[in-house]
Amino acid sequence: MRVTVIGAGYVGLVTGAGLAALGHRVRVGEADQERVRQLSSGHVPIFEPDLDRLVRDGLGNGLLSFHRSNIEAAEGAEVVFIAVPTPERDDGAADVSIVEWVIGEVGSHLQEGALVVLKSTVPVGSAKRFQDLLDGVGANVVVLSNPEFLREGSAVADFFHPDRIVIGSKDQRAVEQMVQLYTALDAPIVVTDAVSSEMIKYGANAYLATRVTFANAMANLCEAVGADARDVLLGMGYDRRIGFHFLNPGPGFGGSCFPKDTRALVAIAEESGYDFALLKGVIEVNDEQARRIVAKVREAVGGTLDGTVVALWGLAFKAGTDDTRDSPSLRLADYLRAEGARVRAYDPHVRSVPELEMAADALDATKAADVLLIATEWGEFQNVDLGEVRDAMRGDAIVDARNLLDPGAVRRLGLRYSGVGR
Ligand code: UGA
Repeated sequence: MRVTVIGAGYVGLVTGAGLAALGHRVRVGEADQERVRQLSSGHVPIFEPDLDRLVRDGLGNGLLSFHRSNIEAAEGAEVVFIAVPTPERDDGAADVSIVEWVIGEVGSHLQEGALVVLKSTVPVGSAKRFQDLLDGVGANVVVLSNPEFLREGSAVADFFHPDRIVIGSKDQRAVEQMVQLYTALDAPIVVTDAVSSEMIKYGANAYLATRVTFANAMANLCEAVGADARDVLLGMGYDRRIGFHFLNPGPGFGGSCFPKDTRALVAIAEESGYDFALLKGVIEVNDEQARRIVAKVREAVGGTLDGTVVALWGLAFKAGTDDTRDSPSLRLADYLRAEGARVRAYDPHVRSVPELEMAADALDATKAADVLLIATEWGEFQNVDLGEVRDAMRGDAIVDARNLLDPGAVRRLGLRYSGVGR
């Protein structure tokens, strides 16, 4: 099929390169000229495992191309994916102005009968709204919802092995065409109306964020009663109705999706007259989680952070990505510095963050530090020689906000250890 993807961010790039790998002819429209230039020469400006290979394959076999003009990219396409950002507005709701702008731009250039597919996470009711907008300019197209569920760090694998594909449209022909588009993928397909499809996306992210928060709250309680949260969550997880996924306690969820989408769903609920108290509680507990980690660091250095040096391992919002958007690590760095601590950070895939002091490597970050704080669960931190860390540090405390290290091994080296929920 002839496919266009507008927006070469995480979602658009993976979708475009993935669809090209499935044999479709994909043109990607992207406003950032430099990004188009880089991508056209096979350079992927984000760290996402396997994505560069996929992009280079698509460029090599001629099925994938990048375009500075969205109109040029969209002309003659049977399916046009919209994958541009929907940032958060001040009131928590998703801002669809970029989507609106793009649809306005390409609307009158779309081929008769084309499908306009909303891939970006958009407020409930957006498909209908944009259908009305396009009907208004006389475009004979069908707008439908097809939310993306890929995770950063495993986005390419998620594209080829999705848990499900959701198609939100009441137009039979459009649904059949979408099923055809994804026919090479082996996944259950949920066909529903557009509003329900839009709700599935928010529901999935809000539920997962709630699970993580439940694990964090349980971990906090385990600390208070003297239980080991890892064992508690393991014991719970063996119940097949519960399972093990997304129950790792930590510094609170972050990233470009969970924080934004939970707040957006609260805003959607408010607009619709429903008080989503549960989800408001999740957001509150999550905000509090980073403060609890800071309290552990403060306690580890004897009650005051002023004048201390904190080594911070990990800046990405989770392992496997170089993305620091809404990262708990940055939240922690801000809080620590606000209390007068000097923070020296290291992340294997994040080279610099404005106004943050960066170390050359993990060991270098710990030099003369009073405390080491682990904020991202990078596996390579487990391979750092803790004996050398001990010798490099001025203090003797490790606060492990991801429960990455073995507390016994840390303590045997004469270091103090504090994890989450144990
Ligand atoms: C999330 C969803 O998992 C994807 O399905 C969805 O497509 C994506 O948002 C999106 O809406 O675009 P992502 O933000 O890449 O994906 O990251 P997750 O792996 O879901 O992690 C989110 C946050 O929860 C991270 O800060 C992570 O460290 C935290 N987390 C996750 C925990 O603290 N504990 C866990 O057990 C799991």
